[in-house]
Amino acid sequence: MKFLYILAFGLFSLAVFHNCQNQTETKETVKKDSAQTENKQEISKPKLNYAKYTDSTIYPNGGSELSVLMREMYDDSETIKKAVLEGKLPPDFREKFRYLHAATPTDKDTKTEAFPDMAKAFEDNLNRLYEEKDEKKRIKQFDIVIQNCVTCHQSHCPGPIKKIKKLNIKETN
Ligand code: HEC
Repeated sequence: MKFLYILAFGLFSLAVFHNCQNQTETKETVKKDSAQTENKQEISKPKLNYAKYTDSTIYPNGGSELSVLMREMYDDSETIKKAVLEGKLPPDFREKFRYLHAATPTDKDTKTEAFPDMAKAFEDNLNRLYEEKDEKKRIKQFDIVIQNCVTCHQSHCPGPIKKIKKLNIKETN
């Protein structure tokens, strides 16, 4: 009997996972990433452009705080990419991106225990990008940052991976 419950829960989790792939459902959530409490004092809520990033003609599936942040992060990454390709230091989005620790996802179970570590790895590599003085190495570092996006998505939200990989400068993946 217990096995059946576990099975049912497993199937439910799969269904939730699937939502993340298709972005079909929006749910109210209260639980935050546990890192929020750890990093609370350092994380400030950025001003997200809800009007633009929940425009239903472009994003028909609503938008949690985390998904709106991610949509902005995608466009910001294109801005970063452009600067990197021009040999310039990109505008600094680090403070905004840090909010991924605290932003509420569509489903409260989306963020796993591994989430804070993956977010940290992403931030560390982003820091390296901004600290990199060599233009060529900065291009390489940009692709490493994008790889960090992909790694987290592999375990948390595989749907957008194909789109994210398009940000890569060198088509290595
Ligand atoms: C630490 C984990 C993590 C990292 C790093 C991460 N993401 Fe995400 N991303 C998520 C999760 C979880 C969601 C699902 C959000 C939700 O369901 O509310 C998501 C959603 C998205 C979406 C879909 C938003 C929507 O609902 O339309 C895009 C696009 C996206 N991320 C792009 C990126 C890009 C680009 C990067 C890197 C610059 C990145 N992500 C880095 C975890 C991450």
